[in-house]
Amino acid sequence: MKVALLGCGVVGSQVIRLMAEQADDLAARIGAPLELAGVAVRRLGRKREVDVDPALLTTDAEALVTREDVDIVVEVIGGIEPARSLIVAALSKGKSVVTANKALLAEDGSTLHEAARAGGGDLYFEASVAGAIPLLRPLRESLAGDHVNRVLGIVNGTTNYILDKMDSSGASFNDALEEAQALGYAEADPTADVEGFDAAAKAAILAGLAFHSRVTAEQVHREGITEITATDVASAKAMGYVIKLLAICARSDDGQSVGVRVHPAMIPRTHPLAGVREAYNAVFVEAESAGQLMFYGAGAGGAPTASAVLGDLVAVARNRLAGARGPEESTYASLSVHPMGET
Ligand code: HSE
Repeated sequence: MKVALLGCGVVGSQVIRLMAEQADDLAARIGAPLELAGVAVRRLGRKREVDVDPALLTTDAEALVTREDVDIVVEVIGGIEPARSLIVAALSKGKSVVTANKALLAEDGSTLHEAARAGGGDLYFEASVAGAIPLLRPLRESLAGDHVNRVLGIVNGTTNYILDKMDSSGASFNDALEEAQALGYAEADPTADVEGFDAAAKAAILAGLAFHSRVTAEQVHREGITEITATDVASAKAMGYVIKLLAICARSDDGQSVGVRVHPAMIPRTHPLAGVREAYNAVFVEAESAGQLMFYGAGAGGAPTASAVLGDLVAVARNRLAGARGPEESTYASLSVHPMGET
């Protein structure tokens, strides 16, 4: 199975490392070896976190994704373009795609899903929400026989890291943000994190899967954490609360619509979400028969996110070998989305 990798940054370099270090195990689990066919980067001469055979590096991503011998494309460059054109080009050629691109999925996921359907390959995106935590596969597959009413939690590691540092050590917003950036948690432009855009994109993806409806980031009511001061955090603490940035996706009581919102919230210190420290994420899913489920783990960072990418890589490689396909997008319910995120 030949794999083309788009991007060699924080996540891409960890994907290369894990593919090399676990090559034998991966081959055994899949039933065929995974081979890196090429790595598309913006600049060739740059120092990288991982050793890559220079012969594999290219700046011509378009040629790489459409190459005849490539079976699977892994996209970890982020952003809307050129990621969308490259993914669509690959899917249209019948390749399978693994992507971590929440912004693209939440803005124009339908274009990607339609290209996958037309081309016959898989589109897997576990790494797009909550880093290492297996969350999308459970919603898409394990809970496919249930009726989900609510998905709620902390889905942005950078803001959780900032709020946690402000709470535990009285750090300033800027110092805590710098630390989160140095640890590789933040987006290239941290505005996406601190203004809640990243969490809103993830909430849209979660709501789409949970409620079998198309939800875009634009439909998510959003408020970030830039207005939260050290005084707010200290006052909340004095009252026995902690401030967290929450994503909430809920079905309305009449079941006819959904509300999706992201905003800071005061949580009692005894609540399980209050104990989610540093860049960890935690998501509650409430389903009719399953009841309450909680997913917890590393929500950001190179290796945790690469773990989710590798899991998808194994799944799509197995599917290709078996001549099978993973689940397609399910939007049959077509629930309307409340503009203010209310339910
Ligand atoms: N910037 C994101 C976060 C990375 O902090 O959660 C993982 O999506």
